Amino acid sequence: MLFIPTELLKPNMVLAKDVNLTITDSFSLPLLTKGQTLNNLFIRKIKYHDIIGVYVENEVANDIIPEEVINEKLKAKILVDIKKNFNHFKDKRGELNIHIVENIAKMAKKLVIDILSKEDIIINLIDLKSYDDYTYRHCLCVTILSITMGITLNLNEHMLTELAMCALLHDLGKMMIPTEITNKPDLLTPEEYDVMKLHPVIAANQLKKLHIVSDAVIRGIECHHEKFDGTGYPYGLKGNEIPLYSKILAVADVYDALTSTRSYRRACFPNEAIEYVMGCVDTHFDYEILKAFLKNIAAYPIGTFVNLSDGNLAIVVKNLQINPLRPVIRIIYPDGTTSKNIDLSQNIKYTNVTIIGMGYENPNFPYNSNNGTSPTDYEEKLRKTS
Ligand SMILES: [Fe+2]
Repeated sequence: MLFIPTELLKPNMVLAKDVNLTITDSFSLPLLTKGQTLNNLFIRKIKYHDIIGVYVENEVANDIIPEEVINEKLKAKILVDIKKNFNHFKDKRGELNIHIVENIAKMAKKLVIDILSKEDIIINLIDLKSYDDYTYRHCLCVTILSITMGITLNLNEHMLTELAMCALLHDLGKMMIPTEITNKPDLLTPEEYDVMKLHPVIAANQLKKLHIVSDAVIRGIECHHEKFDGTGYPYGLKGNEIPLYSKILAVADVYDALTSTRSYRRACFPNEAIEYVMGCVDTHFDYEILKAFLKNIAAYPIGTFVNLSDGNLAIVVKNLQINPLRPVIRIIYPDGTTSKNIDLSQNIKYTNVTIIGMGYENPNFPYNSNNGTSPTDYEEKLRKTS
């Protein structure tokens, strides 16, 4: 299957995966299902819901299947659970509901066990973006990213579960800030921003009152907006004064926000977001944590198109933990035919060839509107040449 950004979708493309969307208190409903042929109405729906792209079928990539960090069923269930719990986070007295926090602790454990059972975790995060509802999706993505970083940093299961708790609850304090501020579409005024900046401390104070959450989790949440150079909030902590869980959470939080569509900008591709976070080493982030992050994240997710430094266009076939910047690729030639799979981390002939960015503007991109090729024309062309 191929990943096609929403703005490049065309009628007649066939979905290779469900596009999951509506998360209610009890189920997650697909907006569109695998096997459906796109038409203009479906494409408008996908655009309307700010989904950054979808996987479509294509015979040059039938064997290319993105690996899941957590399976679709568990992902959908956790999203529903997150929403259900967040919607009832206050008890009748308006205090943080202890049962919700207990449920979230169970969820944290489940996610850690599931992710620990996988070998060679490489996150194709682009795949997690086909969910609407930023808050819940962000919460889940940050948790998955944090757990995988924690595994690379050799944290034990107990610490990983604490880290997952921090991630699931990191923005809990925002729910206790007036919605006129948290939902404001425009830029916040300095006064409103000051109120917003209270969210880590609000969450920490609420959790302290329950006496069931460890100090390490509370502290991890309280300091998730601290920056390595001391310019963060609420305390302006520096370097190793910042708790480990907060340092991990900070990378996951910023990376996921960058790769999500927001009302004011399009989502960054993973490679662009990686470049951004790498540019913040020693100012915002700890280099040791970033190294752990880069080991698990696919800069060029499976099924995406990339430009090679030799001018060729290629599809990413597989990501390898040993070198996430040099995946296995398949070149697409101008006539629509493809090369065999090329492992950029091993193939000596390609030592000097690097990936220089996403390939969706490459003239050889099969669905490029400038070359006048429709998906059906393209399939036809392939059939003739193969
Ligand atoms: Fe936050």
